[in-house]
Amino acid sequence: MTSQELLQVRDLGVEFTAPDGSALHAVRGVSFTLNRGETLAVVGESGSGKSTTALALTRMLPGTGRITTGTVRLDGRDLAAAGEAELRAVRGARIGMIFQDPMTALNPVLTAGKHIDEVLRAHGNRDRA
Ligand SMILES: Nc1ncnc2c1ncn2[C@@H]1O[C@H](COP(=O)(O)OP(=O)(O)OP(=O)(O)O)[C@@H](O)[C@H]1O
Ligand SMILES: [Mg+2]
Repeated sequence: MTSQELLQVRDLGVEFTAPDGSALHAVRGVSFTLNRGETLAVVGESGSGKSTTALALTRMLPGTGRITTGTVRLDGRDLAAAGEAELRAVRGARIGMIFQDPMTALNPVLTAGKHIDEVLRAHGNRDRA
């Protein structure tokens, strides 16, 4: 990784186990690099694995979901192989997520600014500015 590279995903694979025990390959061979200060959009048809890819970054895969191949390097550290304590330090503090369903992810009586503020404070940032 160069110093410009913040997040480097290589050959990411995610599988779920179907009720009949067979493997469902939700994500296969995904690679991308996110540089510091850069915005990256992932576009694809419904069910193509966008949410699963995002959830795999911090290993928050639902149900039987698991990473089967690849690396997820954040500042060089491989989150695909990290322990729970290391992942807890990353989740919300370094990698956050706004979930797809706004009715469950966002509180309608709070402003967008208050939502952002709440996350920063929960992770120890007490500086109002
Ligand atoms: N909890 C789960 N259990 C089993 N299979 C799942 C689960 N979540 C997702 N999948 C499967 O993984 C594949 C990728 O789904 P994913 O939700 O990542 O797609 P998406 O690109 O985010 O779609 P959308 O645009 O509809 O949000 C699909 O085949 C889906 O059925
Ligand atoms: Mg999705």
